[in-house]
Amino acid sequence: MRTFLAVKPDGVKRGLVGEVIKRIEDKNLKIVGLKMIWLDREKAEKHYEEHKNKDFFNELIEYITSKPIVAMAIEGQNAVSVTRNLIGATDPSEAKPGTIRGDYGLEISENIVHAADSPENAERELNLYFNEKELQEY
Ligand code: CMP
Repeated sequence: MRTFLAVKPDGVKRGLVGEVIKRIEDKNLKIVGLKMIWLDREKAEKHYEEHKNKDFFNELIEYITSKPIVAMAIEGQNAVSVTRNLIGATDPSEAKPGTIRGDYGLEISENIVHAADSPENAERELNLYFNEKELQEY
């Protein structure tokens, strides 16, 4: 099973890309796709379309397009739920210590990482960021 994870602009700016990769690899998940990308508004709105009616939507789009992100395709047994457990609760002030957001974040708007929350969203997000040739089989 595959999932999608992104180190968000604050995580990239703070130099946490290596830390995020280390935690994924330490968990024995396999990184099968990896790229740095600066999202434009259109792609960002597509990624977060399920939030388009929320009051934080505009702020979210401004933020996610403000600096580059690092996008990853991750493979492994139960990759979606295992990766969600690794990153922790959406609000870093509530995320448990030992999770990425629990260890490195304080604010919900700058919460370091994003990961798909369901197998359906994982497929949709992987298709948005990667084509088949960019996903390695090894
Ligand atoms: P993410 O997992 O990328 O999915 C949606 C994002 O919206 C979420 O992380 C937060 O960074 C962001 N967000 C900003 N404000 C809120 C809020 N009040 N509630 C939930 N998510 C929020």
